[in-house]
Amino acid sequence: MSDFNIKQIVAQRLGENYELHEKHINSTLVKVFRTIKFDRVYARAKGSYLWDKEGNRYLDMLSGFGVFGAGRNHPLVAQVIRDVLDLDLPNMVQMDCAFLAGLFAEALLKRCPEHLNAVFFCNSGTEAVEAALKFARAATGRNKVAYLDHGWHGLTLGALSIMGNDEFREGFGDMLPGECIPHGCLESAEETLSKRDIACLAVECIQGKGVRMPVDGYLESLQAICRKYGTLLFCDEVQAGLGRTGKMFSFQHWNLEPDIITVSKALSGGYVPVGAMITRRAIYQKVFNRMDRCWVHSTTFGRNNLAMACGLVALEILEKENLFERSAVQGQKIMDAVHALKAKHEVLKEVRGRGCMIGIEFHEPKSLGLKLAWKAVHAAHDGLFAQMIVMPLLDKHHVLTQVSGNHGDIIRILPPFIISDEDIAYFVNALDNVLADTHNVTGPMWELGKNLVKAAMANKSGKTQ
Ligand SMILES: Cc1ncc(COP(=O)(O)O)c(C=O)c1O
Repeated sequence: MSDFNIKQIVAQRLGENYELHEKHINSTLVKVFRTIKFDRVYARAKGSYLWDKEGNRYLDMLSGFGVFGAGRNHPLVAQVIRDVLDLDLPNMVQMDCAFLAGLFAEALLKRCPEHLNAVFFCNSGTEAVEAALKFARAATGRNKVAYLDHGWHGLTLGALSIMGNDEFREGFGDMLPGECIPHGCLESAEETLSKRDIACLAVECIQGKGVRMPVDGYLESLQAICRKYGTLLFCDEVQAGLGRTGKMFSFQHWNLEPDIITVSKALSGGYVPVGAMITRRAIYQKVFNRMDRCWVHSTTFGRNNLAMACGLVALEILEKENLFERSAVQGQKIMDAVHALKAKHEVLKEVRGRGCMIGIEFHEPKSLGLKLAWKAVHAAHDGLFAQMIVMPLLDKHHVLTQVSGNHGDIIRILPPFIISDEDIAYFVNALDNVLADTHNVTGPMWELGKNLVKAAMANKSGKTQ
């Protein structure tokens, strides 16, 4: 019997995180975390909170990029994992039709619009997107895919080909043939799709990066253009789905009827990776159209028992705990309270979103001193100001948030739907406090800005800090 004991290993070695990553994984990321003072060692998590090694509690306003809508380490999901292990079920026999995958498919499709009636299971958001692209190409016989600028669909090569942020493609060579459509421009969509060579148009109804909202009528018109030219409408619900915007799917806010959707993140309650592509049966069958093509799209871990069982219970939790409504209500409370801060802080431009998918944007202040300080920071890098907000939120107030993308003055928050009123008040108060510090151009906030500028300059010139 081995004396391997993971609890002992964690107790003995927790704290070596950054050294281990620096040596064996992504040392550049370690450098970034150290620069922005995010190099914390988290030891425990529950619900809306994280605790570091020293026992300090942090309010998690990111939910693992949208995974933990129901809260971290949900006891019911943990229990289901234990139960599945106890059952000693046959897992990934492969040469059979796995029972739990069938059950989960049934439960998931029951919650989808009727026309979305066939599912492909995989392990991540980007893999679900890959499936969407392949199925769309197979179903239409068209090679090209279209996407909206600023969109985000994952980082594998297919998904990267429909990435609306060019910088992520730099250095990775040729992509799939595709067309980028400026977000909001219907003429451009019409022009692109009218060539009738686009298999699908990939859309995030609310774009995760920057939390960009569609103007009234935009998404409905895009759908009509898709229909007119035989392009499939693919709504990527990896982030916005499963209650994040206050409904099961974000496309339901606009009564859309997508041909393909993708889900992941919150789908399995946070412990086990999972992804799914859901589409019309007719599209599905264009891929698996002959017996010798029954494996033509597949992945080894795709229907594994833990993911399927966790998915079943995650759907149950979302409904039984009324989490769609809670996401809508708590998210609106956050947005209303942040909006009210605008009167006090000229640097605050707007807060926007739906449910618990929220972007907070800043803009150049009008008063002279602040304007100069703003310009100086932006001259070095256009993403630094938002970093100046996010850093003290974590350092001083123990609130975890994130700058939305490398450029721009937006922070994104994806709180758990279970967030309490008390924690909303705490977050808004912390943000108020941090924004108040921006008023003092000789204070610590802009000093921090100067340090970030120095780090950005050193990075540009290739020097290490
Ligand atoms: C809308 C959307 N699609 C796809 C992905 C990719 O998912 P994953 O990170 O699981 O590959 C993401 C990830 O953030 C996303 O937000």
